[in-house]
Amino acid sequence: MKNVLVTGGAGFIGSNFINHILNESDDYNIINLDKLTYAGNLENLKLSEDKKNYHFVKGDICNYELVDYLFQKFQIKFVINFAAESHVDRSILGSKVFYETNVIGTNVLLEVSRKHQVKKFLQVSTDEVYGSLGAEGLFTEKTPLSPNSPYSSSKAAADMMVQAFYHTYGMPVVTTRCSNNYGPFQFPEKLIPLMIINSLNNKKLPVYGDGMNVRDWIYVIDHNKAIDLVFEKGKEGEVYNIGASNEMPNIEIIKLILQHLNKGKELIEFVKDRPGHDKRYAIDSSKIQNELGWKPHFSFEQAIEHTIDWYLENKQWWSRIISGDYLKYYELQYNKR
Ligand code: NAD
Ligand code: DAU
Repeated sequence: MKNVLVTGGAGFIGSNFINHILNESDDYNIINLDKLTYAGNLENLKLSEDKKNYHFVKGDICNYELVDYLFQKFQIKFVINFAAESHVDRSILGSKVFYETNVIGTNVLLEVSRKHQVKKFLQVSTDEVYGSLGAEGLFTEKTPLSPNSPYSSSKAAADMMVQAFYHTYGMPVVTTRCSNNYGPFQFPEKLIPLMIINSLNNKKLPVYGDGMNVRDWIYVIDHNKAIDLVFEKGKEGEVYNIGASNEMPNIEIIKLILQHLNKGKELIEFVKDRPGHDKRYAIDSSKIQNELGWKPHFSFEQAIEHTIDWYLENKQWWSRIISGDYLKYYELQYNKR
């Protein structure tokens, strides 16, 4: 039995990961440490909450004493760090909490992990640390870090810290850098769920700039299977890119959502661009494919349909979200631009 501290496990990717891993195997005892920020939601974990090998702790990864106590109490030897402030637009509205959680929080986890001699520390990172691509080329693990937003710069700082702990202290770390995820339980501030929910509510769909920025989309389960594999088999000190080679301009995704929901293009509204908006992301995932034998299983067509259907069937989940503090964020982000 592996005692694994999973941080940020009440968020979109972390909750899908816990539900996935506890369903696949009985080899893990999962301790989910999550601060339950606006993005954390225990409803995402209904499938796992009653399992004996699942424990939830509400708390902050920046709290050294708490993290140290949890390592002792649960004899933790493995860490998977999902916890982060994850939304670029919010990092533009206010960056402080991004550096606190994503940088200081990661430092606390690394220091406590060093003290307790963990056997593996997996840092969940992002392709955004590489910056922006022109029309050609792909991000490889050797692409220099060149982040452009407060969010991506905080993730890049954390990535460099993780590498420094490997080189300096020989800590057994691995880092994954994935492209844009979509799937169930994604908070409706991100492109795909925002556009689905606004369409369902006949609200305008705010497209930044000309809608021609390109993202490389991967279904969350494919990402989580890759994390699982890197956690088990990834080589210490290495970085693994994860992506499904599915590049699309934003406007194409929005049109596809409208079509699936039988809604008209008049809902589309071009709005002022995101400051510092990265033009294109595209991931070369040949390293994880060749060295660890991972490959994506879901086609975009299949998984986007499943995702749209999930939001149609789970109105209760998102209705609660979009009626709370979300309204204040929406006002700041869209109505006051
Ligand atoms: P999310 O915003 O949905 O969830 C983040 C979770 O972290 C929430 O449950 C939140 O409560 C928790 N959290 C935030 N601050 C915390 C703190 N100080 N202490 C403890 N918990 C805290 O994010 P997500 O989309 O699930 O992303 C998870 C990770 O994956 C992040 O590290 C992100 O950078 C990375 N990532 C995301 C994507 C994507 O497309 N969403 C792609 C690549 C990598
Ligand atoms: O690439 C991985 C990253 O993907 C993760 O590290 C981040 O955590 C995650 O949020 C995501 O970042 P993006 O900025 O790419 O995702 P977002 O969903 O915010 O935006 C996707 C694209 O859609 C981007 O080009 C901006 C555009 N967009 C987004 C929103 C929310 C719009 O045009 N209108 C919108 O309202």
